[in-house]
Amino acid sequence: MEAATTTAPQAVTRPRRRVPPGPPLPRAVQTAIWSRQARRMLFSCHERYGDVFTLKVAYEGTWVMLADPDAVKQVFTGDPRVFHAGEGNQILAPVLGRNSILVLDEKPHISQRRLLLPPFHGERMQGYEKTMSEIAAEEIERWPTGTPYQLRPRMQAITLDIILRTVFGIREAEKLVELRDALRDFLDLTTNPRLLLPLLLVGPGRVRKLGSFRRRIDRVDRLIYREIAERRWAGSLAGRDDILSMLVGATHEDGSAMSDEEMRDELLTLLVAGHETTATSLAWAVERLSRHPEKLDRLRDEVAAGADEYLTATIQETLRLRPVISIVIRRLTEPVEIGGYELPAGVSVTPSVYLVHRNPEIYPEPEAFRPERFLDNPPGTYTWIPFGGGVRRCLGASFAQFEMAVVLKELVKRREIRPVKQESERVFRRAITETPRHNAEVILR
Ligand code: HEM
Repeated sequence: MEAATTTAPQAVTRPRRRVPPGPPLPRAVQTAIWSRQARRMLFSCHERYGDVFTLKVAYEGTWVMLADPDAVKQVFTGDPRVFHAGEGNQILAPVLGRNSILVLDEKPHISQRRLLLPPFHGERMQGYEKTMSEIAAEEIERWPTGTPYQLRPRMQAITLDIILRTVFGIREAEKLVELRDALRDFLDLTTNPRLLLPLLLVGPGRVRKLGSFRRRIDRVDRLIYREIAERRWAGSLAGRDDILSMLVGATHEDGSAMSDEEMRDELLTLLVAGHETTATSLAWAVERLSRHPEKLDRLRDEVAAGADEYLTATIQETLRLRPVISIVIRRLTEPVEIGGYELPAGVSVTPSVYLVHRNPEIYPEPEAFRPERFLDNPPGTYTWIPFGGGVRRCLGASFAQFEMAVVLKELVKRREIRPVKQESERVFRRAITETPRHNAEVILR
């Protein structure tokens, strides 16, 4: 009784204690639409409800979508004890393991991030340039000319080999073939669009038990544990600059080394987080450039002259216009006021990369592919968010942009690129990433 009399008057001045409006469709229907037509759903909800709205996705719970940069800033600078990213990424846990930096929060997250951050330091990337350009050049030289050819699978081959060499440190050709084969088989599962709906509906726990899923993970695990063991017993790791070798030498704050299981989980995390995303972004860069021959010519000329500015801007514009991950997730551990709503604990706030990147006040003519917009205006921390933000910002952001630059340079130096069809490729949702519908199909000369 007492509580009722004291809370009633306060309610008048407080922000609305409920989730924002959203489509009045049953959860199962929203889940099905999200799994196939996420972008269209975002656009129409934005048009109808504005910068804050709610979606209900089966296993994921309640998502409060955010399109306003101020709200995005509030999320990215918010207390990591309140904004849980790991909880929001649980869908990845059965594949990546319980130690994966992606599925952890608070102290355990900080502890893994501390271990993983040094090898990904921006300047360190320069050391990988030679390996990256050799892998790219060798692959590009094999591509056929004068005939329609889909580049996304080939970009995947490049980014997989780059990760195997720079992250796993695999040098021997035989091992490269064996691991490449097992990982390809496993990664195909994580990019299979048909897997997303069952994952969203039944949750990761049960999907893990599926036989085909288990077998592929077991095979990959065997190879990775073997590699970790060999590296541990290799004696001196001097002269090795791969990330696994650095992790073997890394220690927790209490001085203890990483366990095999921790290393396995992080290696697989780097692979899953870094391979498909970068390959797809490269595919989009080619898809966009091939439809804008004048921009492609400018890029080629500037690369030939040894200048990087237009190349950097092209990559930034590709990641703005075709972000491969469309939302970033944080689950609230306590009530938070955002966008005029006091959101309850348990809901997830989800900055929408897609909608922020299409705000015409920030990006005039947002649908136009125009690298020039970044030439004199570097991307803003809360208005350009293809890599998320705050303490959870993508660990591989420098790695990915550096790799994209190296691969694009090798490509434009060697080949002319024409689209197969004039019309742009549509966006096609795979399990995690948003890919070009025809896999960036082009004719090379
Ligand atoms: C164009 C390529 C890439 C894109 C678009 C991308 C995007 C993202 C996004 C959106 C997140 C979530 C950020 C957040 O929650 O705020 C993320 C996290 C992460 N990414 Fe990337 N990524 C890319 C490449 C890479 C690469 C190459 C690696 C490593 C080899 C990598 C490793 C990671 C890791 C470890 C995390 C988790 C960070 C944490 O939870 O603390 N990513 N990435």
